[in-house]
Amino acid sequence: MTTTIKRIGILTGGGDCPGLNAAIRGIGKAAMFQNGIDVVGIRDGYQGLIENRVQKLGNKELSGILTRGGTILGTSNRCAPDRYYSGDDKAGNPTFVNAVDRCMATIEEHGIDVLFVIGGDGTFSCTKPLVEAGLKCIGIPKTIDNDIYGTELTIGFTSALRIGTMALDRLHSTGDSHHRVMICELMGRNAGWLTLSSGLASGSDVILIPEIPFEIDKICEFVEARRSGDSGFSIIACAEGARTKDGSQVISSIDPTSPDPIRLGGIAAQVAFEIEQKTNIETRTTTLGHIQRGGEPSATDRVLATTFAAEAVELAIKGKFNQMVVINEGHIRSQDILDAAHKQRLVSPDHRIINAAKAVRTCFGD
Ligand code: F6P
Repeated sequence: MTTTIKRIGILTGGGDCPGLNAAIRGIGKAAMFQNGIDVVGIRDGYQGLIENRVQKLGNKELSGILTRGGTILGTSNRCAPDRYYSGDDKAGNPTFVNAVDRCMATIEEHGIDVLFVIGGDGTFSCTKPLVEAGLKCIGIPKTIDNDIYGTELTIGFTSALRIGTMALDRLHSTGDSHHRVMICELMGRNAGWLTLSSGLASGSDVILIPEIPFEIDKICEFVEARRSGDSGFSIIACAEGARTKDGSQVISSIDPTSPDPIRLGGIAAQVAFEIEQKTNIETRTTTLGHIQRGGEPSATDRVLATTFAAEAVELAIKGKFNQMVVINEGHIRSQDILDAAHKQRLVSPDHRIINAAKAVRTCFGD
């Protein structure tokens, strides 16, 4: 199929994850080699689009990056085109300006016919004012949280799952030796996918996720029974967004300049404190933090990113703009990019992974 597209741009937005470079490479190479299209990259997400920071991407830049973590383009989760931080006012409060025109000026100056946006719900939400201003874009879903509405898998998830599983595996031997309760806090925002899957893969005894509020007494009963039984120790996989039945989530910080200002963190320490108080069992916590987002992508992420990239370029060539690629039951399809905006795909409490975990006597504290 011939195309009128002469040049495309690629942007990575939101938190980084393994597999972004595989996607950049996949889009760039399919555009250049299969379709003779020029490729440029936007630096640091929407910030670079606003500030006109654009670089050429050729075979040299796109080679040797398939296995590299992070993003060669840089990214930002603190910047939206219609809410660009422009400094603090006299009272010290952040002020913002609408920078959609500046984004469109960058697009025009560099002759970008289609912008490929690799991001999550926040990044896709940000395309709305740009699409309304005339931008043509294609979305590719990425996040270690795996919570993008419309797709059952996102780039980055299986890489982070591997790290979560490895960490929980390692806590077994030390927990066993000291007869302790070991709690590991994992990322994921308001979605429990990463903790649920890492917990199941590592045979964790207790899994705490935001979608299933827990009661501390149920967890205490469970770890006490294990302590007095054959096992002696317990491993708890705890999502950063986990919450008690009557409580709210634990917030570690608030970044007022970010479109999604709340950063979760600290629930594991709270749970550990209560377990020790109520049971007298020695309890230790490990917070994985950004280790989960670092390092090289899993083989699955490399395949997923390259497949999404090829399909995304196909969509552009067919003139199907403002769509994002998704995967469901092994089939790659597309949906309106704004379908994923301001929504999250959460774990349903009767999901087959929850049922499987319950079948092997995993406690969810409910
Ligand atoms: O959305 C990805 C994610 O890693 C979440 O799991 C986590 O809550 C958040 O980003 C952390 O954000 P930051 O990198 O700004 O600390």
